[in-house]
Amino acid sequence: MKIGFIGDIVGKPGRKMVKSYLPRIIKEEELDFVMANYENVSHGFGLTHKNAIELFECGINLMTGGNHTWDKKEIVPLLDSMALLRPVNYPEGVPGRGVEIVEIAGEKFAVINLMGHFTMPMVDNPFVTVLKEVERLEKDGIKNIFIDFHAESTSEKRTLLMMLRGRVSYIAGTHTHVGTDDLEIYKGTGYITDVGLTGCRDNVIGVDEKVPIERFLTGLPGRFDVPDKCKKIFQMVVLELEDGICKDTYKIKAYDDEGYFVSQKALVSD
Ligand code: FE2
Repeated sequence: MKIGFIGDIVGKPGRKMVKSYLPRIIKEEELDFVMANYENVSHGFGLTHKNAIELFECGINLMTGGNHTWDKKEIVPLLDSMALLRPVNYPEGVPGRGVEIVEIAGEKFAVINLMGHFTMPMVDNPFVTVLKEVERLEKDGIKNIFIDFHAESTSEKRTLLMMLRGRVSYIAGTHTHVGTDDLEIYKGTGYITDVGLTGCRDNVIGVDEKVPIERFLTGLPGRFDVPDKCKKIFQMVVLELEDGICKDTYKIKAYDDEGYFVSQKALVSD
């Protein structure tokens, strides 16, 4: 099975890039299934029903969340009615689900949405939680396991790879919005520390730079704003899985309307 995963889609510029590129990429790269992280889709904060429909219509099949899942109140019923996950390590009783199992080309494919600890809301231990989830999936005979690890620190993400290499098919990081140059297949597990944002690229993590500059200069709070006009980027990883093993992975990038290209190929380590 061949799968695409777009990282954090940020605001209208991010949605525009998905609309411009995704239908073409699905066709040309022959993708069977597409995922993305939705937590910054609606003006940088959460996801509205309208924007969810808009993205599913572009060809996205399932979306993962993170710390901003809850920013738009209307998300709560959508977590039950749509293919939308929230991190699995929120405590029991929190709405929504963090694991989804789908069937792709006659094979089962499990998606785990996980959230880190560093600078994040107080959730259950991601490492303990994910081990339990992976064990449960293994017991059910599911080999194709994908994890979106929504976390701030690179060390948390790298540690998860070391803990689960050879046991899960893929670990892709989200949340920092900054794409990393470390695409790798390690003992059959595909990995990237962060896919990077899809949205504005000429500011600070997809939002107008004025607010973060002021925040760092003064220590005073300010609300991030996604500009209407900006230079844009599209970022996605493509993964090919066979019997739970990541056989190939590469990264696709596009700048504005200049066309898309393969920006990274995986380093394969045994
Ligand atoms: Fe986040």
